[in-house]
Amino acid sequence: MATVLFPPFRSVVVKDKFGEEFLVRQYYHEKDREKLIEMYVNYDPNYRCLGLPPLSRTAIEKWIDYLGQNGFSIIAEKDGKVVGHLVIVPDDKNRVDLTIFVHQDYQDRGLGQEMMKLIIEYCKNAGFDGITLVTERTNARAIHVYKKLGFEVVAPYYEFDMYLPLKK
Ligand SMILES: CC(C)(COP(=O)(O)OP(=O)(O)OC[C@H]1O[C@@H](n2cnc3c(N)ncnc32)[C@H](O)[C@@H]1OP(=O)(O)O)[C@@H](O)C(=O)NCCC(=O)NCCS
Repeated sequence: MATVLFPPFRSVVVKDKFGEEFLVRQYYHEKDREKLIEMYVNYDPNYRCLGLPPLSRTAIEKWIDYLGQNGFSIIAEKDGKVVGHLVIVPDDKNRVDLTIFVHQDYQDRGLGQEMMKLIIEYCKNAGFDGITLVTERTNARAIHVYKKLGFEVVAPYYEFDMYLPLKK
């Protein structure tokens, strides 16, 4: 994989649908690893997508370490606790592949959309050509969010491959 330099992400305070504030900021693997793992250890398996997040702590740690080495993440925090995680992993075509999870206690409040909008802007400014992602065709909520933000389904098979071009 080509080495990609990610510019810094500027922290933002966002409000959810109830006016509650969350800090969305860049994830630093050494400093934030434990609290991100904690979010996933407490993640309800009913809200997994495509086998993620992994189920055991050991597998979660391996996954987070892989993403820490190969991707760029932002997190949403409430009172110092991680409640949302979005990661992009670059491919060799100047695109990034996106994955997002919002903790079950904080879903459906607009947080996922806020994080998505911020990373789309970030990726545009960073000069990436587009954002790819994969979701389950039955994941109506995620598909709704992605389509609302401009993603299109490019391969509608068992999984939905979706794409957002960033350069016209
Ligand atoms: C998908 C996910 C990231 C979205 O984040 P979120 O903070 O919960 O989503 P938001 O509150 O920003 O937006 C949810 C939208 O979906 C809509 N929605 C909720 N349930 C829905 C459903 N069953 N079908 C269609 N739309 C639905 C809401 O009305 C809202 O849209 P609106 O703003 O146009 O009214 C989050 O729910 C999540 O982590 N889900 C579990 C894991 C997952 O599916 N991750 C995707 C990777 S495969």
